Amino acid sequence: MPATQTAYRTLKVSPQPGGFAAEVTGVDLSRPLDPAVLAEVKDAFARHAVLAFPGQPLTLDQLEAFTLQIGPFGDDPYVAPMEGHPNVLEVRREPDEKVTPFGGNWHSDWSFQSQPPAATILRSEIIPPVGGDTLYCDAAAAYDALSDEMKARLAPLKAIHSASRAYGPNSAYSRELSLRAMPIIVSPEAEKTFVHPLVRTHPVSGRKALFISPVYTVGIEGMAPNDADPLLGELYKHLVQDRFVYRHQWQAGMLVMWDNRCTMHNALGGYDGHRRVMHRTTVAGETPV
Ligand code: OGA
Ligand code: MN
Repeated sequence: MPATQTAYRTLKVSPQPGGFAAEVTGVDLSRPLDPAVLAEVKDAFARHAVLAFPGQPLTLDQLEAFTLQIGPFGDDPYVAPMEGHPNVLEVRREPDEKVTPFGGNWHSDWSFQSQPPAATILRSEIIPPVGGDTLYCDAAAAYDALSDEMKARLAPLKAIHSASRAYGPNSAYSRELSLRAMPIIVSPEAEKTFVHPLVRTHPVSGRKALFISPVYTVGIEGMAPNDADPLLGELYKHLVQDRFVYRHQWQAGMLVMWDNRCTMHNALGGYDGHRRVMHRTTVAGETPV
């Protein structure tokens, strides 16, 4: 889909240069959306992949209700949900924490599931006065920019995804559980693997995107690690070039919705000594093809 600005009747959509990520105003997400407005939100989402809505201090009930208009809840393993809100996670870092932020490496949420979440919705509650930005990378533009030779080489490949590096018994999180405010769940279940096409096609936009990440991709099916690791490394280096990355700066009461099918994201730190609190839902996705 072209990244050009389209005319919306209700929304004001201001894309970043290049069309990846957009700020959206002119809508109140705390109330049920009119079908025409919801269609505009979905259209903007398909075009820009990351939508930031400033000035939306939704309650948890409102966050859940907005999420359900986008799609059914996804299944969130490895982080205990909020009390009374089984589909909301609290992403929290306390002022005295020294460990990397939750989500502090490039990833696409829960890509190790057989049907990874289509979208994640994150609403900020407390934003530190410095740092705490989130980086988003445009995995569709990164795919488009590959050479024809590389595209042909990647076309038949399947990537192996697993939660083991993050949530397995020997993971980084497993060694830091007592140092974090977040209720992370470490489990042998995390060692399970799922295979997905290395290049997936977006079900709405029809665009192809690289579907791999250094956190959750642990190999390529049928390829020795000696061959797979350098190829994955080359693709990660390609993906996170500045030209494909949008750096998001938060304000309190902002809602950001991102498409896990064609992006990776990375939570930056830089706010030790300050609290950061966000609330998060996921929208169920489909089997990647
Ligand atoms: C997440 C995540 C990024 C952030 O919630 O999945 O990666 O900036 N969060 O908190
Ligand atoms: Mn994440």
